[in-house]
Amino acid sequence: MAKTRSANCGPECLNRSPDSEAVVETTENRKRSRSQFPDESLIKTRSPAKWRSPRGCTGKLLCSPKSPRKRLSDQFSQRPKWNPRDPSQMQAVKEALHVATAPTNVACRKDEQKRILEFCKACIEQEKAGSLYVCGSPGTGKSLSVDKVKDLLAVRSKEVGFQSLDTLAINCTSLTNTSKIFSKILEKFHYCKKTSDGFSPLQHLQNLFSHKKQPSSGKMMLIIVDEMDYLITKDCAVLHNLFMLTTFPFSRCILIGIANAINLADRFLPKLESLNCKPVVITFHAYSKDQILKILHHRLMVLQFDVFQPLALEFCARKVAAASGDMRKALGVCRSAVEVLEAQLRDATRNQDTDIVMFDHMNIALSKAVKSAVVDTIQSLPQHQQIILCSLVKLFRQCKKNATTLGDLNKAYSETCKSSQIPAVGTLEFTNMCKVLSDQGLLKLGQSREDKLKRVTLQIDSSDITFAFKGNRFFSNLPGVAMI
Ligand SMILES: Nc1ncnc2c1ncn2[C@@H]1O[C@H](COP(=O)(O)OP(=O)(O)OP(=O)(O)O)[C@@H](O)[C@H]1O
Ligand SMILES: [Mg+2]
Repeated sequence: MAKTRSANCGPECLNRSPDSEAVVETTENRKRSRSQFPDESLIKTRSPAKWRSPRGCTGKLLCSPKSPRKRLSDQFSQRPKWNPRDPSQMQAVKEALHVATAPTNVACRKDEQKRILEFCKACIEQEKAGSLYVCGSPGTGKSLSVDKVKDLLAVRSKEVGFQSLDTLAINCTSLTNTSKIFSKILEKFHYCKKTSDGFSPLQHLQNLFSHKKQPSSGKMMLIIVDEMDYLITKDCAVLHNLFMLTTFPFSRCILIGIANAINLADRFLPKLESLNCKPVVITFHAYSKDQILKILHHRLMVLQFDVFQPLALEFCARKVAAASGDMRKALGVCRSAVEVLEAQLRDATRNQDTDIVMFDHMNIALSKAVKSAVVDTIQSLPQHQQIILCSLVKLFRQCKKNATTLGDLNKAYSETCKSSQIPAVGTLEFTNMCKVLSDQGLLKLGQSREDKLKRVTLQIDSSDITFAFKGNRFFSNLPGVAMI
């Protein structure tokens, strides 16, 4: 299992103070926050007879031709400063930056949302089952985007007069065992027949979708399976059976699986292809610096005042983009920077003359968070991806260069594997793994028509890689790698 952290919530969720419980995402609080924003009116004033792209969901402010930096400084220079000593203002800032506070619109994910929406729309219109696999590294807005599309579908299917869509959202971290997923789906289909007839829930579902007459008045069912990595078993049987449900002649399932990219290439997709039920794949790439900045800016718009020095926000966005492109991390770092300022204001011995989060506050928060986050990411990578990183550092040191090509990296990787008697993966899988490392913000891949000619550079400090493997017996015993 690639992920070790808690499901949809960064460490800050664990440390939440009792009064910040109010930000836990509830339908009520989502409704409340939505109504303050322009995009709700966009949804409401749409012509009811038409499905539209979710492009309109993004506020007009984003369309300004100015650079993000310029826009940001304009916004900040026009707004009043906050009073960090005012507890209610401080609480509002922390809520705006809390991962559990649902943003009104999901900035920078218009295309992905549009593709998901169009896919579901086509299934509903044609009354045809189908499956989608949404993947990407942590904190790239996958769950958020799918959730938003789910809400849009509910609104729009009512507007266009479709039979309402049944929706089932399952977070796999809550399942006591992987095959429980089938009983959850069966329950949602209001399937009352006694299951003591010797058939498993999976067999009941297969049976159900093999015959025309179905309960639940034949409605289409949108099944969202989040944190699907947890269903990956040795033989991937649960996953295969789940996706196969969409291939039965009378299946009415629109299945959306959401998972991290790490297990994608080498695990279950090839088998699904051979079973003729390969899902449509939508990849969420790590957020870039500009995207992180834009999202932070959007989230801070709910506040009437200016909290961050623009340079401090930009610094956070740049560092998080280079480390992982994880929005959860960016929000955590910003909250932590606010807390650094808060602590300094509380410290009576300090002569604190600033009432805004400055570059230095952000720097302290970043050095606490990002540094260890990169090392954590490296340490939780699958072994072959770790070998690729080690081979790259070794190659750079040997050649005294800081760039190479994918072809040369593949050679260095194969040599490392050979000398440690580990079977190397094939070229295609190697290339896919490098793309995953690039998505994680660890490598940078250049553009070239031929994969092997793509330029490879490191996006992180090579000392983070050395540090991550310090004390790791396997890596310190790898011939030639011990030197890194
Ligand atoms: N485009 C965005 N606009 C506003 N907030 C965002 C955006 N993307 C991510 N976030 C914030 O980051 C948090 C994490 O996003 P999300 O849960 O969608 O990530 P994920 O890709 O599903 O990650 P994981 O693989 O870890 O489950 C969200 O709760 C939200 O607060
Ligand atoms: Mg998620």
